[in-house]
Amino acid sequence: MNQKQTPLYDALLQYTDRQIYSLHVPGHKDGLTFFHRAQPRFQSLLQIDATEIEGLDDYYHATGVIAEAQALLADLYGTVKSYFLVNGTTVGNLAMVKAALRPGDRVLVQRDSHKSIFNALKLMDLRPVFLASEIDPDTGLAPGPSKETVAAAIRRYPDAKALILTYPNYYGMANKDMAEIIKFAKQKGLIVLVDEAHGAHFIAGKPFPESTLKMGADLVVQSAHKTLPAMTMGSYLHINTERVLPEAVEAALEMLQTSSPSYPIMASLDLARAYLAAMDDEAVSAIADRIAAFKEQLSDIPGIAIASSRVHGQDPLKIVLRGPEPGFSLQERLIKAGLYPEMADPFYVLFILPLDDRAPFERILQAMRQAFAGMSGEKTAAFKANGLSLRSDAPIGELAVGFREMDVLDKETVPLSAALDRVAAETIIPYPPGVPVLLNGERVTAQHLEAIARWRTAGAKFHGLDAEAAEATLTVYKL
Ligand SMILES: Cc1ncc(COP(=O)(O)O)c(C=O)c1O
Repeated sequence: MNQKQTPLYDALLQYTDRQIYSLHVPGHKDGLTFFHRAQPRFQSLLQIDATEIEGLDDYYHATGVIAEAQALLADLYGTVKSYFLVNGTTVGNLAMVKAALRPGDRVLVQRDSHKSIFNALKLMDLRPVFLASEIDPDTGLAPGPSKETVAAAIRRYPDAKALILTYPNYYGMANKDMAEIIKFAKQKGLIVLVDEAHGAHFIAGKPFPESTLKMGADLVVQSAHKTLPAMTMGSYLHINTERVLPEAVEAALEMLQTSSPSYPIMASLDLARAYLAAMDDEAVSAIADRIAAFKEQLSDIPGIAIASSRVHGQDPLKIVLRGPEPGFSLQERLIKAGLYPEMADPFYVLFILPLDDRAPFERILQAMRQAFAGMSGEKTAAFKANGLSLRSDAPIGELAVGFREMDVLDKETVPLSAALDRVAAETIIPYPPGVPVLLNGERVTAQHLEAIARWRTAGAKFHGLDAEAAEATLTVYKL
């Protein structure tokens, strides 16, 4: 297929040319009716903020320009069928789980999944078995479960229908075992679903890690808006299998998404696909070289180092930076200098670079040098010393109560010291690696409590636990 084509975007241009006046939604009338002061800024985008009128196709029953644009997407990624999503990978995760599974099914799920995966499990009333991620000893980050953990879980739960994994992690780390895991799980008859939110650009080839689409994952969701030049909320869902029918995916998408899909978002997905398709080896090398040079110059700033794993793959577009101060304070310095990182944790700040060699790297470096000037002290050893000892969770574990039960049970708050053997009614996540120590619905073990204590001593920040309080508490179910 001709990947230079952009059928959806072109149809919108024709629409803007032909239309005398909008007699349909949206109410801004192609931008003519709008809050005056903001009109100049919004105008050009509002002109293509159309709706499903003649010539612009029907998103849920696409046969025209949306179908053509999605066929180009499937052609580029080499899939059976691919879809534009207008509510991010969040809805993609919900939809793929709904399409592939039935209520009550047993599923093997990476424990440190995005909350949309947890919501999908709950929505579908599935019976999850959680698989703990390894902790990379060099960085303390969690790339996903090992092949040994996955194999053991498949042996222990032969009734499991699917394996749900995240790849790469937020920091761009790509599990070295992923290809083997997918192959093995498929051999054993499991459907493999992958949240590849941060890997939409991986099909551009080396030096990017390999996409799980190439490894044979059955359904894959990618946030085009995270690493491709697409608008926020724009994602792709790919069917890479005969085992899940397009009708099932389409029914789930229609149920979970808006009935008024955003044309600017969809057009940006069409254009992001064409942008990626135009990226030949030479363009990819130019980007990789530019980033490598940028990283080298960044590492020359006194006190600054770039975290990397000797074991797992790393997406060059993600830079995980550490220094003599906690990640949060490095982030504060950067913001004062006019640079907003993607995120910070107690150890690192994370930058996401563009799929483009024309980023103003010199200007960025100049601002960073200024931000980090005068920092002194040892580069933080991060998790080198204590990474593996902070591993808190059993490699394979089930919930003590089902999702439906959770909704009706009463809760109470108890001191953490009195929580042993109770069932947690909240999830506790220390950062990094952002891996839950304790999941909502899990029975609290001595191992959990020891791990939480170790994290607190290490000065970790938590979601779901007031670590600063004199006596930490935990919300539990009254059983
Ligand atoms: C691993 C992962 N999955 C899913 C999501 C949700 O993606 P979206 O923002 O496209 O809905 C995110 C967002 O941060 C994510 O990091």
